[in-house]
Parts: sequence; structure tokens; C-alpha cells
Amino acid sequence: MDPKRQKVKLNDGHFIPVLGFGTYAPEEVAKMEALEFTPFSIEVGFCHIDCAHVYQNEEQVGQAIQSKIADGTVKREDIFCTSKLWCTSFRPELVRPALEKSLKSLQLDYVDLYIMHYPLALKPGKELFPKDENGKLIFDSVDLCHTWEALERCKDAGLTKSIGVSNFNHKQLEKILNKPGLKYKPVCNQVECHPYLNQSKLLDFCKSHEIVLVAYAALGSQRVKEWVNLNHPVLLEDPVLSAIGQKHKKTAALVALRYQIQRGVVVLAKGNNKKWIKENIQVFDFELTPEDMKAIDGLNRNIRYYEFQPGVGHPEYPFSEEY
Ligand SMILES: NC(=O)c1ccc[n+]([C@@H]2O[C@H](COP(=O)([O-])OP(=O)(O)OC[C@H]3O[C@@H](n4cnc5c(N)ncnc54)[C@H](OP(=O)(O)O)[C@@H]3O)[C@@H](O)[C@H]2O)c1
Repeated sequence: MDPKRQKVKLNDGHFIPVLGFGTYAPEEVAKMEALEFTPFSIEVGFCHIDCAHVYQNEEQVGQAIQSKIADGTVKREDIFCTSKLWCTSFRPELVRPALEKSLKSLQLDYVDLYIMHYPLALKPGKELFPKDENGKLIFDSVDLCHTWEALERCKDAGLTKSIGVSNFNHKQLEKILNKPGLKYKPVCNQVECHPYLNQSKLLDFCKSHEIVLVAYAALGSQRVKEWVNLNHPVLLEDPVLSAIGQKHKKTAALVALRYQIQRGVVVLAKGNNKKWIKENIQVFDFELTPEDMKAIDGLNRNIRYYEFQPGVGHPEYPFSEEY
């Protein structure tokens, strides 16, 4: 099999490609980047595309995927497409319409994976980030288990092959796993994960429950000032990653991506230029030694780039727990 199509099995029997292309970009460039770079990513061999309603570019990602199907580069079944349920649609009756909206934008009959974006329900409505007169996010109170049951119904209806979560801590995962009458376990938990926040405890927890950990910000995030704490050091400038890269004649970025795949983590990579998108697919061309892996493990320092500060104070804010 083409190494670029390497996959891992999910707990519901479907398979997820171990490398995914990230489509999040700052609002002003999100649509343009999706149109330009998503088709290119498919041309160089990415077969897993990570989208979300809140990125506001699913229409452009959909056009890009359709263009690559139309020109014969791929078939629909060659592409693994993820979308995410935004927090303003957590009330059970809003879940299926939200997924149907994403499907319409993506011009797809089904997504391969649909995940709850954050465990933080927000006030329903048109605003993605509903705020009060003091600029504070307006929270909603929805039992995450009820949202999960609505996701289970979407899977049964064939609108998504698999269902999962994102940004859940282990207690929130436990809540779903221990839900009376659980029909499907989450197949994944997509979380920030990189050598400075290697999530080893959450990873062990997920592995013990057959939940795949999917890493975002694996390259240290895009450092978008609205969302990222810019006081944190730049991951790809880390001398240990660079030295290991030099040894293998690869870049620090490739070392950071390869690290995840070798520890059983599915990894997402954003690329906002063609050179990097082409480079990132080379993650399949080399192998880190056990000593390299140990040295990278040693870089962990619990640095979280995406703290989602506006969500602090929400009863389900996930990042106050150790893992
Ligand atoms: N579930 C969630 O809550 C969540 C949150 C965040 C992200 N995500 C998903 O995860 C994806 C990836 O995370 P991310 O967007 O934070 O970014 P990332 O994958 O950590 O990438 C960050 C930046 O690294 C640089 N880069 C990429 N390839 C490189 C290379 N080969 N050499 C050097 N630099 C390179 C680019 O930055 P510059 O050009 O700016 O230097 C890129 O924007 C997102 O696009 C999205 O799909 C999900």
C-alpha cells in the first residue's frame, strides 16, 4: 500500500489516515487558503482533510474536494473528511441540522467523522461566539451526553461514518463512556498535542479505551493572536527538534509530525504555502530511533498554545484538569 495512505483502525471498524491536512486559517484568509491549498494537499497525497463549521470555509473546502474528484485525482472513498459540531448547536435537536448544513457546504452525502468541537455549549443562534453586553461569551447548559446521543443518531442515519469528540479531558470522556445505554464510544479525541504538550496521560487513557488521539497544533500552532498565547516559545525553533532533524536530513517540522505517528497518534498539519504542504507529506520517508523519541518526550513542558480563554468559567471548561 502507498505509505501516504497509512491508516489506523477506529473502535467502530472504520479506518482513519494517520496524517491529516488542517483547514483552519484566520478569518480574513480562510476561504482563499482553503480554495488554494486543499486541492494541492490532495494532489501531493493527503487523503484526510480536517474541517469545521466554525472555520467558515467548508464551502471552499467542498469545492476543492469536488474539483479533485471531478479531475480523477481521487474518488470520494479515497478521502477521509472530518467536520466538527460547533458549540452553539449542542442542544440535541440542533445537531442533525448542523451536520446537514456542513454536508451541504462540503457537497458531500456523508462525512467520515463528525466530532464535538469543544465540550462547551454556547447560546444557540446565528452568532458563532454569542456575547453579552460586556463582551463575555454566553454559555448554554446542555448535558454533553444528550448531545452525544444526537450524534449517535446521525451515525445511524448514515450522515457520518464515525463520531468522536475534541478538546475533552479524561473526566468528560469518562462521562460519555459511562453513559447508561451508550450505543457508540467516541472513536477519537482531537486535542492540542506536540512535544511541548505531549499529552502522555491523556494518550494512555485514550489508548486504554480504544480511543484514537488526534493531534492538532502538532507544529506549534499558527500563532494566531486572537487564540494563541504568544508568550509561549516557538516550537519549531526548538534546538533538540532541529538537531534530530539534521541527523535524519529532515526539518524540525517533520520530526514533530513523525513523533506523533510513531507513538500511535493521528496527526494534523496545517500548511499555508505549497512548499510546506509538499514537505509535510515526507513524514512517511524516515523513522525516529527510540533515543530520538525519548529525547522528544523529554521536551514536554505543559505549554498549551490554544487555551480558549473566553471559555474559562464555563462549568465544562476542559483545561483546568491535569489531563
Ligand atoms: N479541534 C480543535 O479545537 C482544533 C484547534 C486548532 C486546530 N485544529 C485543526 O488542526 C489543524 C492544524 O493545527 P494548526 O492550524 O494550529 O497548525 P499547525 O499544524 O500546528 O501548523 C502551524 C504552522 O506551522 C507552519 N508550518 C507548516 N508546515 C511547516 C513546515 N514544514 N516547516 C515549517 N513550518 C511549517 C505554518 O505556519 P506559518 O506559515 O505561519 O509559519 C503553519 O501554519 C488546523 O488547521 C485545524 O484543522 C483543531
